[in-house]
Order: sequence, then structure tokens, then C-alpha cells
Amino acid sequence: MSKSSLHHTLPARYYTDAQVFAAEMERFYFGSWICAGRAGQIDRPGDYFLRDVAGESIIVTRDTSGSVRAFYNVCRHRGTRMCTVAEGRFDGRIQCPYHGWTYALNGSLIGAPHMSELNIGEPTFSRDEYPLHPVSAEVWDGHIFINLGIHPGLHPEPLGQQLGSLPEKFAPWRMHELRVHQRIVYDVKANWKLIVLNYSECLHCPLLHPVLNRLTDYLGADNESPASTYTGGAMGFAGGVQTMSMDGKRRREYLPGLGDEQRSKVYYYAIYPNLLLSLHPDYMMTHTLWPIAVDRTEIICEWHFHPAEMAKPDFHAGDAIDFWDLTNREDWRVAELSQAGIQSRAYTPGPYSKREELLHAFDETVLDRERR
Ligand code: FES
Ligand SMILES: [Fe+2]
Repeated sequence: MSKSSLHHTLPARYYTDAQVFAAEMERFYFGSWICAGRAGQIDRPGDYFLRDVAGESIIVTRDTSGSVRAFYNVCRHRGTRMCTVAEGRFDGRIQCPYHGWTYALNGSLIGAPHMSELNIGEPTFSRDEYPLHPVSAEVWDGHIFINLGIHPGLHPEPLGQQLGSLPEKFAPWRMHELRVHQRIVYDVKANWKLIVLNYSECLHCPLLHPVLNRLTDYLGADNESPASTYTGGAMGFAGGVQTMSMDGKRRREYLPGLGDEQRSKVYYYAIYPNLLLSLHPDYMMTHTLWPIAVDRTEIICEWHFHPAEMAKPDFHAGDAIDFWDLTNREDWRVAELSQAGIQSRAYTPGPYSKREELLHAFDETVLDRERR
């Protein structure tokens, strides 16, 4: 292969320039569906959690009809951020703490003190005109996705379009049945794309992850050809290994819908922009990426298990959690080192190997959306 035909990493500005970062947030985080959390976090009407999306606070809740709803956390009176506790339960309504404007769980304004005290001849106030600003929400197999694009009178393209063939492919894991058992939040001093890139290759596994590297063949990834909205593939286990855990032993039953093939691999998918979905034979791990600045990303990692396993008195998850927490920290450390090096005046784009094709595909998606 001649030098010119090699694909190269992106220029530094994609990882260091605050303006490029802001534009990417518009394209990826405000212009497409992002994974906000799990439907099981808000089982009952009024349960809610907040999500911070590049400075925007979003309320995700369930209304009295049982539908998942999301709203900008912005009062329609004078714009105040209403809700500040990260998760909890509304008692049937959302009330602004400033002057008491009150909204139903479907976002409609149901109380606005003093707004009707207008004189004859003045314009009238209609509550109908001031519902909370809605955010589109859809649920895929237990994962709540939101779309923050403002589409007056229009709906964004359906989530299904972004997910392509994934719902069908991952149906056997019955992800909607799984429940979160553990959450760890990491604050990583690296651009969000470096986290996606690192997740998309295992060439670093021998040097960086000695424990992981005993469980899986780092050259054994079976990658699907990249889509414009996700990339991923499956990796088989080394001999005798049954899942990703400290010792490769599996301490839980296989997830009930899986066949032999699915029991023998882990499926790693980066669903742009912010969900890293890792499906194991006996559990699911998710990372969601929440960019804070061009060089800083909050990462929420969660481990999800089948409720039948969680109900067992000898249920054990520490092997999977400790293993991935260790691996996560190894990955975040090197992502921070990548960030530091790319910020150097000496950095120039470097060549990708043939085995880094998913990374090049992601870079192309980044460039493609910039061109559009
Ligand atoms: S700003 Fe919310 S009630 Fe006034
Ligand atoms: Fe890694």
C-alpha cells in the first residue's frame, strides 16, 4: 500500500478546538437520537431523572398514560431551570420553584398564578400556549432515546431509522427485561470521539489490558461492515472462557433468549453518538458518553442483569463489575494520554492499519456530517 492510500487519523482541531466541539454537539447530540438511560429507571408515572446534554438540562419522566416523556428543564414563565435533583419522583405534576407555574406530566401547563388577572382590552393569556418545550423520546428494547432537535410542528426521523438492523439483530438478548445493578460514573479528560475510537479496536488489548487479553483473542474480532450510524462486531472467547469477568468464569445463567453462537461471544457496538453497547452471554454493559468540553467527557457505565438472576440469594456480579471497572480505567487512562499527545504542537495525523477500519469509518462519519 502506498503512503497516500493509507487512511489517517483526524487533524488535531477535531479534538482540541472548542468551536469544532460546539458544532459536533449540534450535529451529533442535538441533531440525532441519543441514549438517555433505561426505561426501568422510571417505572412509575412521575418517576424522573435529569440528563445534562452539553449544558442543556433535560427532564425524562413517565406520564400518567405510561408513556416516556422528555422536556427541556425550562419554565415557560421566565425561563427558570425548575428541577435540580438528579432523580426522583414528581407527585403528579412539575412545579417551578420560582412563581409556581405548574405542569402536568405530559408537559401541559395546568397552573399559572396571577396570569388571568388582566384588564379588559388586554391580550388574554391562554395556558395552552405555554406547555413545556418537548423533547422527542422513544424506547428501544428498554433503552430510552431522546432527540433534542427542535422541529416545530414536525417530528424527527424515527429512531428506527438510526438503529437500522440493530433491533432485529439484538432481539434475542431481550434487553428490555434486564435491570441495572451497578452504575459507575467516570470523569475522563479526553474528547468524546477518542472514547468511541478506543472502544472500536482491540489492537491495544495485549499491552493495555493484560487481564482482558487472557479472555479473548485480540485479533479475533468479527466486525460488521460499518453503517453510517453505528459500527461494531463480535469477539469470541479464548478456550474455556465463558464470559468477561476477572477469571473468565460465568456465575450467572445465560440470558434466556440466546443461541449457541450468541453464548460464545461478546457483541460490542458503538451506536453514535453516545451509546457503547456490550452484550455478554449473561449480562449487558452500557456506556453512555456525555461530553462536557472538547477535552472532557463524563461516562456513565452500567451493568444490567436478568431479574431472575438478581433475585437469587447467591447472585454475584462483582466479577463482571470489577473486571470492566479495571478495563475501563485502563482505557480512560490511555484516552487521556491520547488527548494530551494530540494537543501537542508536534502532533500530525498518523496512519491507521487495516485492522483499524472501524475507526476510519467513524472519522468518515464525523467528516461526512460536517460536510452536510
Ligand atoms: S420562572 Fe417559573 S414560575 Fe416564574
Ligand atoms: Fe480497551
